[in-house]
Amino acid sequence: MPTCDTLIHNIQILDGSGHEPQPGGVAIGHGRIQALGDLRGYSSAEALDGNGHVLAPGFIDVHTHDDLYVIRAPEMLPKLSQGVTTVIAGNCGISAAPVQLKRGFPEPMNLLGGEDAFRYSTFAEYAAAVAEARPGVNVAALVGHTALRNNHMDRLDRAATASEVASMQEQLREALDHGALGLSTGLAYLSAHSASVEEVQSLVDVLPGSGAVYTTHLRSETDQVLPAMEEAFHVGRESGVPVIVSHLKCAGIDNWGHSREVLQSLESARKQQAVGCDCYPYAASSSMLDLRQVDERVTITITWSRPHPEIAGKTLAEIAAIWGEAQLEAARRLQPAGAIYHCISEDDLRAILQHPATMIGSDGLPNDPLPHPRLWGTFPRVLGRYCREERLFSLGQATRKMTSLPAETFGLRNRGRIQEGYCADLVLFDPDNVRDIATFSDSVRPSVGIEAVWVNGVLSYRDGSCTGRRGGRFLSRGAIA
Ligand code: ZN
Ligand code: CU
Repeated sequence: MPTCDTLIHNIQILDGSGHEPQPGGVAIGHGRIQALGDLRGYSSAEALDGNGHVLAPGFIDVHTHDDLYVIRAPEMLPKLSQGVTTVIAGNCGISAAPVQLKRGFPEPMNLLGGEDAFRYSTFAEYAAAVAEARPGVNVAALVGHTALRNNHMDRLDRAATASEVASMQEQLREALDHGALGLSTGLAYLSAHSASVEEVQSLVDVLPGSGAVYTTHLRSETDQVLPAMEEAFHVGRESGVPVIVSHLKCAGIDNWGHSREVLQSLESARKQQAVGCDCYPYAASSSMLDLRQVDERVTITITWSRPHPEIAGKTLAEIAAIWGEAQLEAARRLQPAGAIYHCISEDDLRAILQHPATMIGSDGLPNDPLPHPRLWGTFPRVLGRYCREERLFSLGQATRKMTSLPAETFGLRNRGRIQEGYCADLVLFDPDNVRDIATFSDSVRPSVGIEAVWVNGVLSYRDGSCTGRRGGRFLSRGAIA
């Protein structure tokens, strides 16, 4: 009689490819999927009846800022409770490594944590720290362009010189040698906005041939989003590197309704080169409080403020009224601060989410005291609200966006599918009940309907809580797990 470590039976198997679920069972052995299908006659140390619910590959959160959180709070409840088994860190130009803060601590690096948490001057040191923390989920990471700039430049409001670019290239190469997934930029932020296209190109030129990717928080997500996309695609084309547009959106009321042009731009690039994007399923963004984004027509909620911590949770309009001044003035006094901007139209959001090239990334900010609900709700919200209720896509297609598509895009080998020999990153959920609970007014709330989560075969989440067993690993680019 064949034996395995864990047998999950009475389930609908959603293999991650985009196909619809098939009834069967899955056997886990030595952290891998040992067999699937009709497994009558298998004996196992542990067995779990899935009650006819869906078993899918564990979700891959392609856009996170969990770099330091996975070390500080390795249990990873916000992610495991959504069925996420792998996070990709280092997005938007900011990463935990390689970082030397001797020249300052620029925004938005403070989204990741306090100055003292940045202790990894090389990517290898960061990878070792993650492995040692043994987080509840797998972790892979990009290298942030802004982090590199800050390591080598005395000021960030200019383009890098040739010798600074050379130093950044060298540091990027070293990180790639130690398993970094690629490079991310955050060109809309003032700490990188002055970087020239040539500066970015010189860094992306380091990537080809290694399976690494270029992800970008575009230079503009508002009125200049189309030229910003063209810039990103051009850079990728020149060096032959896949480009992933981060949190694709049309931000700002004056830009609503432009998702058609934005998706057309993505489509036409896709005919010539490898491009993709990620998106979070909410009509509101969140980041630093940026004076350029203050618009009295948009509801802006302040999530933290260094000089005025007592004001967190209020809208900028309320604060401005209390202080008796314009919102822009109030925003100035709150700096540095974090904010949620209700600046996206639901129609644009749906169009972008639905596109077959779109992956799901939470962009959650685990360090924020009043985080945007995407930190806790992203994946169940795609399955509940956008798949089951609004029928934007089938369950098979929704799952593909969170599993095989990201695994293939980022080169996470042997993950993202339920297939014999693949790593046993798995989520069991109730497709009729899975949904997000976190809201904008009450955002630290686990989702419901996620019944069990395995990470590398380790049962890590069950019946609403972490099991205390953590199976996450550091994933190096292209490594066969
Ligand atoms: Zn971003
Ligand atoms: Cu981000």
